[in-house]
Amino acid sequence: MLPSVNDINLKEIRDPFFVYKPKNLKKSIKSFLSYFPGETLYAVKTNPIDFVLKNIYDHGIKSFDVASINEVKLVRNLFKNANIYFMNPVKSRYAIKEAYFNYGVRHFSLDTDEELEKIIQCTNFASDLNLHLRISIPNDFAEINLSKKFGVDGPDAKKLLIKMKKLSKKIGVSFHPGSQCMNPFAYKFAISKTASLIKESCVNVTYFNVGGGFPSKYPGMEPEPLRKYLKVISEEFSKYFHKNSDIILLSEPGRVLVSNSMSLVVRIDLRKKNYLYINDGTYGYMHDAGVTGFTYPVRKFREEKKIKLVPFSFYGPTCDSKDFMKGPFFLPESIAEGDYIELEQMGAYSITMKNNFNGFYSEPKIFIQDSLKNKIHFLGLKNGNKITTNLGF
Ligand SMILES: Cc1ncc(COP(=O)(O)O)c(C=O)c1O
Repeated sequence: MLPSVNDINLKEIRDPFFVYKPKNLKKSIKSFLSYFPGETLYAVKTNPIDFVLKNIYDHGIKSFDVASINEVKLVRNLFKNANIYFMNPVKSRYAIKEAYFNYGVRHFSLDTDEELEKIIQCTNFASDLNLHLRISIPNDFAEINLSKKFGVDGPDAKKLLIKMKKLSKKIGVSFHPGSQCMNPFAYKFAISKTASLIKESCVNVTYFNVGGGFPSKYPGMEPEPLRKYLKVISEEFSKYFHKNSDIILLSEPGRVLVSNSMSLVVRIDLRKKNYLYINDGTYGYMHDAGVTGFTYPVRKFREEKKIKLVPFSFYGPTCDSKDFMKGPFFLPESIAEGDYIELEQMGAYSITMKNNFNGFYSEPKIFIQDSLKNKIHFLGLKNGNKITTNLGF
């Protein structure tokens, strides 16, 4: 059982901590499942905490996209009947053997002949494999580009697809438009490119995977609503594939499902003008704030008063000057050492990113919030105007 937010005693807490908001998680999942016309795989890397995975499973997602053998083990140990898709296109021989023989994994992705041969050898030429080809597509509209490392296209993709067909029970194709993809039409282009490849290669494909990348609404980023993304996908997909065709549409969302499910609370250890030195940073839970430059809705923790807000930047606790989060983060002008700040939308790519650089690792501490009174959260005042954030879709 997680301790409740009502049990938080700031005098006893040394490290940054999270507030878990299961109602937000439920809402994000319900919303995604109601608009997506296919099978949804949760991308475990986004937030692999066991109670988050259990809640995701309970809300109807029974399939998981995993990147490593440790994620395979985590999912299988929690859910005997979950469908596990090992979608990292490069895997060690050990990971493939373990996943296939000891954890019942039958779905593997690849983008090279070499990986195909490795999978075939490591599974002893198994006849029940489902192999997914990772197609390369532009990531031009994504805040985080994932296109450079993986993916194949053109004649190489066609050749590989034909080769895979001879060695695999069922075939899949997949792509990823990049994380925090800000334009729904990126999916349209990718679907059209992938559908053409399928047509040209004359291979019967069973799985068509549109990846993750669905965005969260962070301050300063106003993506179109999720339903618009899923409508574009649905319409484009049905242009190429009939309603009654056997092809199964898959997606692998991460961020959009879990970002609203947790907030992070950090302490100010020093204020230098408009720079706040806080007890978490780029090497901690705030990787995306430092490296990617995301900002989050922030407020002084447990402060409901309407106070004038001014912009701040944050420094993390390590001695590295790259441990910097530019923001701007709008907080009360009077904020000072010893105050706590709550950052919303910290459920994605936070807990997994923390490391022990400069000795600042601590096991994540998580408290649970049972209910969210309002969809609209009041954050404070900026230039006399009320600032709110809408955590819903
Ligand atoms: C293969 C794969 N699927 C899904 C995801 C989840 O992406 P997102 O969190 O942007 O939805 C990622 C993220 O890196 C990925 O690499």
